[in-house]
Amino acid sequence: MSSSVKRVVVVTGGSKGIGRAVALKFAEEQAKIIIVHYDPDEEAADETLNLLAQKGIEAISRKVDVSSFGKMEDFFNELLDKYKKIDVLVNNAGIIRDALLIRMDENAWDMVLNINLKSVYNCTKSVARTMLKQRSGCIVNIASVVGQIGNAGQANYSASKAGIMGFTKSVAREMASRGVIVNAVAPGFIDTEMTRGLPDKARNDLIKQIPMGKLGSPEDVAETVYWLCSNAANYITGQIIHVNGGMYM
Ligand SMILES: NC(=O)c1ccc[n+]([C@@H]2O[C@H](COP(=O)([O-])OP(=O)(O)OC[C@H]3O[C@@H](n4cnc5c(N)ncnc54)[C@H](O)[C@@H]3O)[C@@H](O)[C@H]2O)c1
Repeated sequence: MSSSVKRVVVVTGGSKGIGRAVALKFAEEQAKIIIVHYDPDEEAADETLNLLAQKGIEAISRKVDVSSFGKMEDFFNELLDKYKKIDVLVNNAGIIRDALLIRMDENAWDMVLNINLKSVYNCTKSVARTMLKQRSGCIVNIASVVGQIGNAGQANYSASKAGIMGFTKSVAREMASRGVIVNAVAPGFIDTEMTRGLPDKARNDLIKQIPMGKLGSPEDVAETVYWLCSNAANYITGQIIHVNGGMYM
């Protein structure tokens, strides 16, 4: 592929876990990859850049808080100045701040809704005009199975992920006629830093709810994200694709 036809791919939360696997998957087509993270240090992001470099990709990493509309708009404007287009946006950054509702403070609610859901508005809004003008683009939002079925202790997280599903369907309807497709992937229980913190008992109880009897890998999710942005899926929009080992059917 010549450089002008390389896709420009932005992955939020690309320093580790699912976002890193998504970036590495897009590296297989030699795309131009930009990752966003908000880790306290650059260690994980540098590791992602190293892994991408091993695949021949000189990727870019930026530490930007996805929950800030102004900062994300500036970030995307900078990218557009440089690349003139954005082909793929993967809204993947996310956090958990779990507590039962009676113990959940306002800060835990606001943080999760801002980082998981408002961020999807911030980034999608920042690229929407460009993608509409291009008459092409692929947006994949990372939701979660708990946005569909709920989970005790995750009222904030489940609400943010259910919000992503509604947002995805509405924006898909708005952009479909101009060739921009918008879908969500809803992972089940995936083996990343986010889930490694769980106590053994909670982890084993969760595995019992998975018909396939095991956690998913970040690569399982990345494959689906990549497929949604491939020609094989170009008549699919407004869908929530579940990748969960049968946890929700
Ligand atoms: N791991 C799972 O089991 C699972 C299941 C369903 C959905 N998900 C979702 O998948 C996505 C990725 O999860 P993961 O398990 O890979 O998480 P992770 O904790 O391994 O990585 C999270 C990423 O998000 C970034 N991030 C966090 N806050 C940010 C902010 N304010 N601004 C910019 N970036 C920020 C981090 O820097 C990191 O790169 C999340 O949206 C998560 O909710 C994960």
